[in-house]
Amino acid sequence: MHYLVKPAALRSGSIAVPGDKSISHRALMLGAIADGESVVSGFLQGEDCQATLAALQAMGARLDIPQPTTLRISGVGMRGLRQPATTLDMGNSGTAMRLFSGLLCGHPFTTTLTGDASLMRRPMRRVIEPLGRMGARIDSNDGLPPLTIHGGQSLAGIHYPLPVASAQVKSAILLAGLYADAETSVVEPAPTRDHTERMLQFMGVELQAEDGRIRMRGGQTLRSADIDVPGDLSSAAFVILGALLGADCELVIKGVGMNPTRTGVIEILRQMGAAIEIENCGSAGFEPVADIRVRSSVLSAIDVDPALVSLAIDEFPVLFIAAATARGRTRFSGIGELRVKESDRIRAMADGLRQLGIKVQEYPDGASVVGGGFTGGVVESHGDHRVAMSFAVAGTVADAPVTVRNTDAVDTSFPGFADLMRSVGADIRVSPGQPSA
Ligand code: S3P
Repeated sequence: MHYLVKPAALRSGSIAVPGDKSISHRALMLGAIADGESVVSGFLQGEDCQATLAALQAMGARLDIPQPTTLRISGVGMRGLRQPATTLDMGNSGTAMRLFSGLLCGHPFTTTLTGDASLMRRPMRRVIEPLGRMGARIDSNDGLPPLTIHGGQSLAGIHYPLPVASAQVKSAILLAGLYADAETSVVEPAPTRDHTERMLQFMGVELQAEDGRIRMRGGQTLRSADIDVPGDLSSAAFVILGALLGADCELVIKGVGMNPTRTGVIEILRQMGAAIEIENCGSAGFEPVADIRVRSSVLSAIDVDPALVSLAIDEFPVLFIAAATARGRTRFSGIGELRVKESDRIRAMADGLRQLGIKVQEYPDGASVVGGGFTGGVVESHGDHRVAMSFAVAGTVADAPVTVRNTDAVDTSFPGFADLMRSVGADIRVSPGQPSA
């Protein structure tokens, strides 16, 4: 698939975005190993979460889908999953692969996890190493997938300072820690999304999180829970920027997750001059939720505070687009992790922005972007959903049409993205295959 985006800025309106991807993955996994029936509403029907769902079904989890975004999970308990008949395909999802690594090394059978071309390039030593210290046996292709997890080892608790700020690694260790013989603790170099900790506590697990250290006793069980998944702020970010760049646009995005470990994008955009208000603050069980009101704003360049990086880790592609529209030079630093996401996002964004006439300097762990207008052009997404959606937003305010190549992966996190953008004024045509040269 590819997008043809013709210049048409977003207009005022009120919308909602699909459910949070991180919370949806965790609801599936934790619901499956809980005792009793969990009902998940607002579940993200994206391809990444479908991969987790299919893997759990292949291991005997009982799931019923009465409505597209509602799931009923009959938990099989801590030891109820069964050896799957085949290799488990994690698709594009790093979250699925890393979290399952932790969960499955606590089970008494062997599983092999594989994925698509992008996932096969992503570093897995960051989970293999700490899980190995706990006693897990995981084979890999020199630190890359596929991973074969030889379950049935007895796991010991560990005390592990995370070398990289990663919620996926933290979560993998905590999931393995549920099966360990003693306490497990992890220390984070910077705060990362804490959905696993919140959901575990909500499901009855005793866990202490204080001053960047999370401690949890092994051998605990989970009780079922009803989980209301809020809208995904990482998906909302594309609409937020589209509205900021619109002329005289006031857009409300309803029911978005406001977990403080995720809201770095709002802080950064506000520092750039964005008019963003948070309204109707409430909670969906264990996660804060609110409506986001955005008004068109003139953005100014800033030096993005590296302390906010882990709180906005998935929003840098869209923040590069924001920087490209801001007055002056925006500097990003401490974002080296972007090079090992679904694509090398620093490279992908720098190359694509240059195609649209923007001056970009690329560094090993950062970039600087000089604001200017977007020309039209053809941009490669490298099969990365967030890169594709970011350039689609740029196209709404470019001087001429923008073609975004390889947009299939948008369905991993934001099914219906083009339709939703069209409903608030964007002119995005989705076509099969690649554009003719
Ligand atoms: C995620 C954690 C982040 C994020 C990813 C989802 C999660 O990855 O980029 O999209 O659900 O735990 P890292 O842990 O690699 O930073």
